[in-house]
Amino acid sequence: MSGVTNRTLRALYKPFGFGLTVTEFVSSNALQYKNERTMDMIDQHGVERPVSTQLWGNDPEIMAQAARLVRECGADIVDINFGCPAPKVTKTEGGSACLRDAGRCEAIMRAVVAAVDCPVTMKMRLGWSETDLVYIDIAKRAQNVGIKAVTLHARTAKQFYRGEADWSHIAALKRAIDIPVIGNGDLGDARDAFAKMRASGVDGVMLGRATLGNPWLVGQLRALMEGREPDASPNAPERLRFAVLHYHAMVDEWGEARAVPQMRKHLGYYLKGFPGASALRERLMRTETAAETLRIVAETIVALETPPRELAVAS
Ligand SMILES: Cc1cc2nc3c(=O)[nH]c(=O)nc-3n(C[C@H](O)[C@H](O)[C@H](O)COP(=O)(O)O)c2cc1C
Repeated sequence: MSGVTNRTLRALYKPFGFGLTVTEFVSSNALQYKNERTMDMIDQHGVERPVSTQLWGNDPEIMAQAARLVRECGADIVDINFGCPAPKVTKTEGGSACLRDAGRCEAIMRAVVAAVDCPVTMKMRLGWSETDLVYIDIAKRAQNVGIKAVTLHARTAKQFYRGEADWSHIAALKRAIDIPVIGNGDLGDARDAFAKMRASGVDGVMLGRATLGNPWLVGQLRALMEGREPDASPNAPERLRFAVLHYHAMVDEWGEARAVPQMRKHLGYYLKGFPGASALRERLMRTETAAETLRIVAETIVALETPPRELAVAS
């Protein structure tokens, strides 16, 4: 996930039970210039392997060159993004805009498959709009050119994040192709995700937003998949203690100037559903240093763990 799944997060979250983590999507054009920020996005620690590196672009040859480069840099899997609906991506005909031209999608997939010696996968949405649902056609082309698995986020590009992901399309895709299908969209709860997995017959699921600040979700889903009772969700202090670990890891790796603004959004995720979260979130949005932020988080943990004083009852 762009702006989120950097190598620090992938390494921290992997032990919770993820089978595969995916990098932020990387522009194939930007990779030609190999600037530091772009190269950081494809870098990895190793502990999070296998790593799937996701590329976006609309030119088959440039996508193939980018695939060779990320493979040389350690990608175990190259994933092609035909799903991003963000205007900055679709205005250059990248991401989900590719779905408007099935021939181009096929050419990109064919070129990337030919360029690397590792599995190539693809992620897409249902189509550009609801009158143009192309996912089965594109998936069949993917299968024919040697793509090893397809992830479907069951919304159209025009929907962005509105409405609900329609898992009946994911089930339809599973029936239509033989390569593994990974279902994606609106999985926020382990039991619901497990039920959707079973009902659609998918080979795997991709968890997105719901894991932010809540990597425990994947362990709960994995338990259900293995026939075990899932652990209860961690309480607020436990979540915050893990957030502190995440904070330190980010500062150590990226330096305070980059980590502090990035961690603001992560702290927001860790605070989701807390009593008094919005006031605390607002306070944390204004902090400028790691020390100040961590002091507030530490005070919050202490406050959460201190039992409320017994109320004096007037008699
Ligand atoms: C902040 C953010 C960044 C994202 N970046 C990517 C990305 O780089 N590549 C990608 O395939 N999907 C990306 N997505 C989409 C998610 O991977 C996922 O498909 C979508 O959020 C639906 O799944 P969910 O309901 O489990 O979140 C992003 C989503 C969000 C909210």
